[in-house]
Amino acid sequence: MSRTVLQVEGLTKSFGGLKAVQDVGFEVREGQIKALIGPNGAGKTTIFNAITNVLRADAGSVLFDDRELLGLASHQIAKLGIARTFQTTRLFDHMTVLENVMVGRHIRGHTNMLTAALRIFGAGAEEREARNVAMQTLEQAGLAHLAARHGAELPIGQRRLVEVARALASGPKLLLMDEPAAGLNMRETEQMGEIINDIRDGGVTVLLVEHDMSLVMEISDEILVLDRGAVIAEGPPSEVRADERVLAAYLGQEVSD
Ligand SMILES: Nc1ncnc2c1ncn2[C@@H]1O[C@H](COP(=O)(O)OP(=O)(O)O)[C@@H](O)[C@H]1O
Ligand SMILES: [Mg+2]
Repeated sequence: MSRTVLQVEGLTKSFGGLKAVQDVGFEVREGQIKALIGPNGAGKTTIFNAITNVLRADAGSVLFDDRELLGLASHQIAKLGIARTFQTTRLFDHMTVLENVMVGRHIRGHTNMLTAALRIFGAGAEEREARNVAMQTLEQAGLAHLAARHGAELPIGQRRLVEVARALASGPKLLLMDEPAAGLNMRETEQMGEIINDIRDGGVTVLLVEHDMSLVMEISDEILVLDRGAVIAEGPPSEVRADERVLAAYLGQEVSD
């Protein structure tokens, strides 16, 4: 069995009286596509936010390559080799696609996306390096033809692809994807599935939050199911899809989704 890349233990986060994430533990092994699923409000995004220290966890431990992440700044976490995409895409509307992806390359050295964006342009050799890597990443993703377009011009399907390219431009070992197929049609969702498979085949481990069950069942090696902040099931797709507790959790929220 391949080695553990990410080990989460006892992760806990409350918002006032709401226990959004309660004592969650799981591991992600190298080369896996591991999915994190559960009804709306189950705590999936909060787990991503805690891992990347966008939000400070109340308790727990997150080891990445045996190194504790909790307490590190987001840019330090990026530098160690973790990138993420967001449930709501975060492209800069007034920058070109190429520039948006360059910002992703530059994030390694800076506190956040905005300082990365402000510092990169006009920085000589650093800018040239970022430009080359960004162009290569766009070519690999089949998006080179969009390089000069502005973020604001892109339909959701292309925004999601550019967001993935931006995350990849930092050269991560682990990619956290938060609902990459949200808003995509069936064909675009299939394409996203192929891209996620390609990313894994390229040597990047993937932790995926996704609502589209056919996508999750098709591409995941293992699935962790959350309900109201707690883990209710974990296993390969064939086991999880037949689990009574999982079915019950999903039945309860048909209307809200
Ligand atoms: N920053 C926040 N402040 C207050 N409550 C939050 C915040 N982020 C998430 N929550 C709440 O925590 C719960 C889990 O949210 P979230 O992690 O976004 O769920 P999921 O991604 O599984 O849909 C929800 O009840 C949500 O309203
Ligand atoms: Mg979410």
